[in-house]
Order: sequence, then structure tokens, then C-alpha cells
Amino acid sequence: MGLRWSKSKRIDAGRLAPDPARLRCLVALMTSLFAVSPSTEAAGNHPDLAGEELSNELCLGCHEDVAAELPSGQHAAVEQGCTACHDVIKAKDSPYLGGTLKDICGACHELAEKEIVAKHGAQPFAEVACTGCHAPHASKNKSLLLAYSHSPFTDGQCDSCHDTPENGKVRLVTKDAKELCTVCHEDLEKKFAAAKVVHAPIESEGCVLCHSPHATRNPAHLRDPAATLCASCHDDIFAQLSRASSHAAAKDPGCMACHDPHASNVPARLRADPNTVCLGCHFAALPPGGNAPPTVEIVPGYSVRGSLLQKTKQINLDKRGLGHPIFNHPVGGHPDPLRKGQQLGCLSCHFPHGGNSQKLLVFELAPGQGICQKCHQM
Ligand code: HEC
Ligand code: HEC
Ligand code: HEC
Ligand code: HEC
Ligand code: HEC
Ligand code: HEC
Ligand code: HEC
Ligand code: HEC
Ligand code: HEC
Ligand code: HEC
Ligand code: HEC
Ligand code: HEC
Repeated sequence: MGLRWSKSKRIDAGRLAPDPARLRCLVALMTSLFAVSPSTEAAGNHPDLAGEELSNELCLGCHEDVAAELPSGQHAAVEQGCTACHDVIKAKDSPYLGGTLKDICGACHELAEKEIVAKHGAQPFAEVACTGCHAPHASKNKSLLLAYSHSPFTDGQCDSCHDTPENGKVRLVTKDAKELCTVCHEDLEKKFAAAKVVHAPIESEGCVLCHSPHATRNPAHLRDPAATLCASCHDDIFAQLSRASSHAAAKDPGCMACHDPHASNVPARLRADPNTVCLGCHFAALPPGGNAPPTVEIVPGYSVRGSLLQKTKQINLDKRGLGHPIFNHPVGGHPDPLRKGQQLGCLSCHFPHGGNSQKLLVFELAPGQGICQKCHQM
């Protein structure tokens, strides 16, 4: 291990830190290497590894996810051993770190050094979780930045959003974060101004409720995977997905298959009127033959995987738009006899999320009653 450490070209080039830092680094390394406690008590819920030689091979044998990400651009620290940062013997809580991030990362990186401070735009980076911006193990991005990284941030333009910090706290160039984002994302501001329905949290909390201004592990710079975010406020809708009949589309592609996360002109912030949204997948314009294109636009400006549509049941409508659920039956163009003031449509008969009757049908039927009798006297 000592040999590999001294072999590291980049360390030899002295980029890491002045000597005291390197010394602290070695101390941290040695401490962690010899930190194997004789206790037989497992840390937290971690499998008990007391007495084992805590090699990377041992760890990676169980942690295949970590093994899979390493080739994409490994952090030099991993060569020093997983134990340079993790203590699965003594630390009680997942992710079993041997101290605070400031201490762990600061053991090898001199956080007050001019060069590193400059790389962070002289912002108070050392006081916040390093993992809010950096992946600890590996990343395909420069400087181990998390997978989805916002370009003004990645390009080091901290000052496009930040003023000089005050009392160790960041300051923004605008009054608050709500105004900051639409300075560049004017198109969204225009969309909000024109839209009939703007999602409530955009006005109350602002963009950073859902998006990180810096970098994250999720597409569209979302702080958490979309479903986790939506569930944090709409658990009632998620509860509907565990009813007897639930809509597969609400899990994959997810809520955004039908809803715009920001704003739209249609009630419930649908991407288009309900029938158009539903028919986008269930009366899809797939080219004849076996091969679906990679993506298909189901409503203007929004596409889903072609392979998903191949698995989606198609309903038969003739040229006049008639023919579901039975021959000649309309799916629109008439008043809905059950929903006062609304037109007949997919939602006259189906729930969009989940229900207790088969095929997402909205009808709870008395014994002997057919669904046709709900609307027709027969
Ligand atoms: C025998 C299989 C096994 C080995 C070997 C192993 N782990 Fe684990 N590890 C687990 C399991 C199972 C969990 C989940 C337990 C929990 O924390 O709830 C876990 C959890 C973890 C977590 C927290 C995961 C999370 O999602 O937050 C970390 C970090 C971790 N292990 C690091 C290590 C390191 C470092 C080593 C090598 C010193 C190691 N593990 C060796 C099985 C193993
Ligand atoms: C440079 C310090 C460092 C090293 C070296 C390191 N880890 Fe981690 N690891 C972390 C931190 C910090 C987290 C928490 C990440 C977060 O909260 O986003 C973490 C998280 C984890 C997790 C939880 C799941 C995940 O991927 O976030 C596992 C499992 C894990 N590490 C295993 C390992 C194994 C196995 C090794 C050795 C191959 C290793 N770590 C080496 C710092 C390190
Ligand atoms: C055991 C020592 C050690 C620890 C602990 C450590 N690092 Fe590193 N880190 C290194 C070395 C060595 C390099 C490579 C030095 C270089 O490129 O100048 C490096 C490089 C980096 C880089 C630059 C990568 C690049 O591609 O330019 C970042 C960012 C980084 N570390 C962040 C962290 C964070 C965040 C932590 C805490 C979770 C941490 N390090 C903990 C040793 C360590
Ligand atoms: C707000 C996001 C953010 C936070 C928090 C953050 N960093 Fe960085 N870090 C960056 C960016 C951006 C870069 C520079 C990327 C570039 O230009 O290559 C960087 C660069 C680095 C580098 C490489 C410096 C060099 O000379 O190449 C290291 C090492 C590093 N950070 C360590 C840390 C450590 C340790 C912490 C926690 C104490 C931390 N960072 C917290 C965003 C962050
Ligand atoms: C697109 C605008 C934007 C850019 C570019 C940006 N930041 Fe930020 N930053 C913010 C916002 C907004 C917050 C407040 C975050 C919040 O409220 O969650 C913030 C907060 C922070 C914080 C406080 C801790 C935290 O994570 O909330 C640090 C540290 C920070 N930024 C560092 C940086 C550094 C370093 C850079 C450049 C490498 C940078 N920022 C670039 C918008 C930005
Ligand atoms: C200085 C100009 C600027 C500011 C300020 C800015 N952005 Fe961006 N943003 C961009 C650029 C350029 C892109 C396109 C490149 C990219 O995806 O990183 C982008 C892309 C995005 C994306 C889309 C990524 C995707 O997958 O399509 C999101 C989400 C985003 N920004 C959110 C925000 C939030 C939230 C804020 C406020 C905290 C903000 N932006 C402030 C310039 C800016
Ligand atoms: C309630 C959570 C939430 C809030 C608040 C939010 N967004 Fe988003 N945003 C999302 C989700 C989810 C996506 C991904 C949409 C998808 O998968 O189609 C997204 C996508 C984006 C994109 C990329 C695609 C596009 O639609 O252009 C940008 C840019 C963006 N958001 C900017 C912003 C800005 C700027 C704000 C504040 C004015 C904001 N968002 C507020 C959830 C949110
Ligand atoms: C911080 C909480 C919060 C988060 C996170 C959130 N929402 Fe909302 N959402 C609300 C509130 C509040 C309303 C307004 C409810 C009302 O008027 O009854 C709302 C309304 C809605 C509506 C109804 C139409 C409207 O605008 O009144 C839909 C659809 C919706 N959200 C979908 C989503 C989706 C999809 C996500 C994930 C990207 C999400 N929400 C994330 C709080 C949230
Ligand atoms: C297949 C399309 C579709 C998907 C997928 C979908 N919804 Fe909906 N959602 C609708 C329709 C259509 C309505 C309007 C229902 C009505 O008017 O009766 C609606 C209404 C809503 C409403 C407001 C009315 C209410 O019932 O409270 C919320 C909130 C909502 N959806 C959230 C979500 C969330 C969260 C997800 C992801 C789990 C999701 N939706 C997935 C189509 C969908
Ligand atoms: C993103 C594509 C997509 C959209 C948009 C969509 N669906 Fe679906 N739907 C699916 C998939 C995938 C399934 C599961 C496979 C199947 O049964 O076709 C499904 C299943 C169904 C089923 C059968 C459920 C069962 O239990 O067999 C009904 C009924 C249905 N959808 C109605 C609707 C209605 C009504 C709308 C509009 C509110 C809609 N769908 C919008 C993709 C979609
Ligand atoms: C008048 C009531 C009614 C309307 C309106 C209606 N459906 Fe249906 N739908 C049904 C009934 C009843 C079934 C079950 C028929 C069966 O199992 O053969 C069904 C079944 C389905 C199925 C499942 C097909 C299968 O093979 O399992 C899908 C998908 C579907 N409907 C989509 C839609 C879409 C999309 C719309 C709007 C364009 C719509 N429905 C409008 C009553 C309706
Ligand atoms: C949600 C209410 C609703 C349900 C449920 C419903 N229908 Fe209809 N149906 C309508 C409406 C509205 C029309 C168009 C106005 C009209 O002709 O009464 C219509 C039209 C018809 C027509 C006339 C079509 C033509 O040729 O002009 C027939 C036949 C019919 N329905 C049969 C059925 C049968 C059979 C079922 C059960 C499988 C059924 N309907 C379920 C609302 C419904």
C-alpha cells in the first residue's frame, strides 16, 4: 500500500498539498489501516467484518454497485483503501464514515490552500457537504463532479449566481433563489406568465426545491429521483398506485408522462387535454413492422421510449374516432352524462392513477349491474 501511494505521479508532482497536509493524510491513512477493532460487535447493521483483512477486494465483492462505477474515473483516494474513509467496524450509522466529511476529505486535501479555494470561487465550500457536488468514489466528469452537473457551475462561473460571501455564508446576486434561475431560463418565465396552471411549489418554494443549482446524481439536475420528489408531497396519489388496478405508466415513465412538472394550460397541468395524452400511448402512431423507433413523440414536445409503446395495449378507433369500448362507441364529442359540465372522454370511464375495479374503471358495480347501465337505460 505504501508503495502504491509513493508511486502516484500526481502526488509526486506535489499537487496535493504542502507537507503538513501530506503528513496528516498519511496519519489518517495509517490510522484507518490499523483501525480494525477486536470487537465482535457489528457496526450498525453492517455485516460483522471484525478480524477480516479489510481489503478493497473484500468490500467490492459485496458492493458491486461501487465496483461498477470505479472504471468511469476513479478517485485516487480509493487506491488507498475503502478504509481511508469508511469504518465499518466502529462507525454506527450508514454510510459508515470514520468522521465528518470535513475531517475525512480534509485529511488529504488542504482545504485552506489558495489553489483549492480559487477552484471553489472563494465560496465557503469547506463548511458544506463535499458530496453535495463531488462523487466520493468515481465520476466521468472532471474534478469528480456528480453525474448531472449544471453548466454555469461546471464552468466555474460561481459568480454568475454568487456575490462575495459574508461571514462565511453564501450570498446570491439576486434577492433570493426564486429570481435567480429565470435570469437565464427566460423561456420558463414566459411559459409561467402564459400558463393557466402553475405548480404551487414553484411560487412558494422556488426552483431549488426540486433542482440543485450545482450538481446531482439525477437527470435534469433533480435533487432526488423524480418519483421521490413527487411522493414527498403527493403521497395520496402514490397510495392509489397500490390499489387492485394501477396504471403502469405512473411508475414508468412516471408522473411526467402526463403532467408537466412546471406549468400548463390544461387543468391538473396535463401536457395536453386528457384524451390526447391517453391516446398518445394507447392509439400510438407506431410505424408498421416489428421495430419501434427509440423514441416516439406522444404529445407535442414530449417523447417516450418506442419499446414502451410496443408493450402498451392499443385501442381500436376508426377514422371517425369511434370504436371503444365497443364497436361504434364514441370516446368524446358528447356531454358526459355522469360528470356534469364535462365532455365524455377516457376519464369518464378510467382513473388515471389507480382504482379498485379492473382496467382502471371508475365504476363500482352493484351485483348484476353492467357498466353500460351507468350511463344508458337498457
Ligand atoms: C459480506 C458482504 C459485505 C462486505 C464484505 C462488505 N459489506 Fe458493506 N454492506 C453490506 C451490506 C449487506 C450492507 C447493508 C447494511 C446496512 O447498512 O443496512 C452494507 C452497507 C455498507 C455501507 C452503507 C451503504 C449505504 O447504502 O449507505 C457502506 C458505506 C459499506 N457497506 C462499506 C463497506 C466497506 C468499506 C467494506 C469493506 C471494508 C464493506 N462494506 C464490506 C455488505 C458487505
Ligand atoms: C474518499 C473517501 C471514500 C473512499 C475512499 C470510499 N468511500 Fe464509499 N463513500 C464515501 C462517502 C463520503 C459516501 C457517502 C456518499 C453520499 O452521501 O453521497 C460513500 C458511500 C458509500 C456507499 C453507499 C452507496 C453509495 O454508493 O453512495 C458504499 C456502499 C460505499 N461508499 C462503499 C465503498 C467501498 C466499497 C469503497 C472502496 C472501494 C469506498 N466506499 C471508498 C467516501 C468514500
Ligand atoms: C486518502 C487520501 C484522500 C482522501 C481521504 C480524499 N482524497 Fe480526494 N484525492 C486524493 C488524491 C491523492 C487525489 C489526486 C490528487 C490530484 O489529482 O492532485 C485526489 C483528488 C481529488 C479531487 C480531484 C479529482 C480530479 O480529477 O481532479 C477531488 C474533487 C477530490 N479528491 C475530492 C475529495 C473529497 C470530496 C473527499 C472526501 C469525500 C476526498 N477527496 C478525500 C486523496 C484523497
Ligand atoms: C458547491 C459545490 C462544491 C462543494 C460543496 C465542494 N466542491 Fe470541490 N469543487 C467544486 C468545483 C466546481 C470544482 C472545480 C471544478 C473544475 O474547475 O475542475 C471543485 C474542485 C475541487 C478539487 C480539485 C481542486 C484542483 O486543484 O483541481 C478538490 C480536491 C475539491 N474540489 C475538494 C472538495 C472538498 C474536500 C470539499 C468539501 C470540503 C468540496 N470540494 C466541496 C465544487 C464543490
Ligand atoms: C446557477 C446558480 C449557481 C451557480 C452557478 C453556483 N451556485 Fe452555489 N448556490 C446557488 C444557490 C441558489 C444556492 C442556495 C442553495 C439552496 O438554497 O439550496 C447556492 C449555495 C451554495 C453554497 C452553500 C451550501 C449549499 O450547497 O447550499 C455553496 C458553498 C455554494 N453555493 C458554492 C458554489 C460554488 C463553489 C460555485 C461555483 C463552482 C457555485 N456555488 C455556483 C446557486 C448557484
Ligand atoms: C448563468 C445562466 C444560468 C443560470 C443563472 C441558471 N441556469 Fe440552469 N442552465 C443554464 C444552461 C446554459 C443550461 C444548459 C446546459 C446544462 O444542462 O447544464 C441550463 C440547464 C438547466 C437545467 C436542465 C438540465 C437538463 O437536463 O435539461 C435545469 C434543470 C436548470 N438549468 C436549472 C436551473 C436552476 C434551478 C437555476 C437557479 C438555481 C438555474 N438553472 C440557473 C444556465 C443557467
Ligand atoms: C416540483 C418540482 C420542480 C420545481 C419546483 C421546478 N422543477 Fe424544473 N423540472 C422538474 C422535473 C421533475 C423535471 C424533469 C421533467 C421531465 O422528466 O420531463 C424538470 C425539468 C426542468 C428543466 C429541463 C427540461 C425543461 O422542462 O425545460 C429545466 C430547464 C427546469 N426544470 C428548470 C426549472 C426552473 C428554472 C424552475 C423554477 C422556476 C423549476 N425548474 C422548478 C421539477 C421541478
Ligand atoms: C413541496 C411539495 C410539492 C412537491 C415536491 C410536488 N408538488 Fe405537486 N402540488 C403541490 C401543491 C401544494 C399543489 C396544489 C394542490 C392543490 O391546489 O390542491 C400541487 C399540485 C399538483 C398537481 C395538480 C395540478 C395543480 O397544479 O394544481 C399535480 C398534477 C402535481 N402537483 C404533480 C406533481 C408532480 C408530478 C411532482 C413531482 C415532480 C410534484 N407535484 C411535486 C405540492 C408539491
Ligand atoms: C397516465 C397519465 C397520468 C400519470 C402517469 C399521472 N397522472 Fe396525475 N393525473 C392525470 C389526470 C388525467 C388527472 C386529472 C384527473 C381528473 O381530472 O379527474 C390527474 C390528476 C392529478 C392530480 C390532481 C388531482 C388529484 O387527483 O388530486 C395530482 C396531484 C396528480 N395527478 C399527481 C400525479 C403524480 C404524483 C403522478 C406520479 C405518481 C401522476 N399524477 C401520474 C394523469 C396522470
Ligand atoms: C406513457 C404512456 C401512457 C400514457 C400517456 C397512458 N397510458 Fe395507459 N397504460 C400504459 C401502459 C404501459 C400500460 C400497461 C400495459 C397495458 O396494459 O397496456 C397502460 C395500461 C392502461 C390500462 C389497462 C390497465 C389494466 O389494468 O389492464 C388502461 C385502462 C389505461 N392504461 C388507460 C389510460 C388512460 C385513461 C390514460 C390517460 C389518462 C392513459 N392510459 C395514458 C401507458 C400509458
Ligand atoms: C364509455 C366508457 C369508456 C371510455 C369513454 C373509455 N374506455 Fe377504455 N375501457 C372501457 C371498458 C369497459 C374497458 C374494458 C373492456 C375490456 O376489457 O374489453 C376498457 C378498456 C381499456 C383499455 C384496456 C384494453 C385491454 O385490452 O385490456 C385501455 C388501454 C383503455 N380502455 C383505454 C382507454 C382510452 C385511452 C380511452 C380514451 C380515449 C378510453 N379507454 C375510454 C371503457 C371505456
Ligand atoms: C360514461 C358513460 C357511458 C358509459 C359507461 C357507456 N356509454 Fe355508451 N354512450 C355514452 C355517450 C355519452 C354516448 C353518445 C351520446 C348518445 O348517443 O347517447 C354513447 C353512445 C352509445 C351508443 C350509440 C352509438 C351510436 O352508434 O351512435 C351505444 C350503442 C352505446 N353507447 C352503448 C354502450 C354500451 C354497450 C356500453 C357498455 C359497454 C356503454 N355504451 C357505456 C356514454 C356512455
